[in-house]
Amino acid sequence: MKFSYSILVFVMIAFFSSCKNEEKVDNSSKQEEEQIEAISKINPSYQQMGLDIAFKTKAQLGKHLMGTMKEKGAIAALEFCNVKAMQLTDSMATVHNARITRVSDKTRNPNNKANETELKNIDIFKNMISNGKEIAPIIETINDSIYFYYPIVTNDMCLKCHGTPNKEIDQATLLSLNNLYPTDKAVGYSENQVRGIWSIQFQK
Ligand code: HEC
Repeated sequence: MKFSYSILVFVMIAFFSSCKNEEKVDNSSKQEEEQIEAISKINPSYQQMGLDIAFKTKAQLGKHLMGTMKEKGAIAALEFCNVKAMQLTDSMATVHNARITRVSDKTRNPNNKANETELKNIDIFKNMISNGKEIAPIIETINDSIYFYYPIVTNDMCLKCHGTPNKEIDQATLLSLNNLYPTDKAVGYSENQVRGIWSIQFQK
């Protein structure tokens, strides 16, 4: 693949230049590599490309989120769940000439609403998870475009902002959320649920 070498170099630079907790980042990227390897046999190039984008964006998001939550609390961290604000997403999009979005069936920001295809795939991922199946990406090819979908699953950290109001979400966070997102539907989640999907489009 003509992209793969430059992607690798880019990812390594992005990772190590911004990394404070090297051991942790190292581990998770190794796990991700193993996961990528395990499923890339089906369709190596496109799967790997899509997973690469999704995992690296997620890792970056998680790192910002955890750091800010620890230092300044949930309210200050709100902006970090905004994928559009993330530099890495933009650089990834440029390198891959890709469109990277994160969408949901129950949105906080109405701009992140899933379209019909995405909604259908969200249901497929929900079934995969409730049946305890191994998660595999969904890849569709239409003309020269590859459409890549991968679920975004909740863990306990997400519940501070996506859990149950006044239980996991404290009063102050709730107030800010209501202010910023008057039509917020993204609450009431528990752990290990499909919160949304990565929807990534790139050219063959
Ligand atoms: C500090 C609060 C906070 C935490 C913690 C948090 N989020 Fe969010 N989340 C938000 C905000 C705010 C938005 C809206 C961002 C925007 O305007 O695009 C959002 C949006 C999203 C979206 C996009 C769809 C939508 O509803 O607009 C997904 C998917 C998502 N979050 C998943 C997660 C997952 C998974 C976790 C845990 C790993 C998590 N979030 C943790 C605050 C948070």
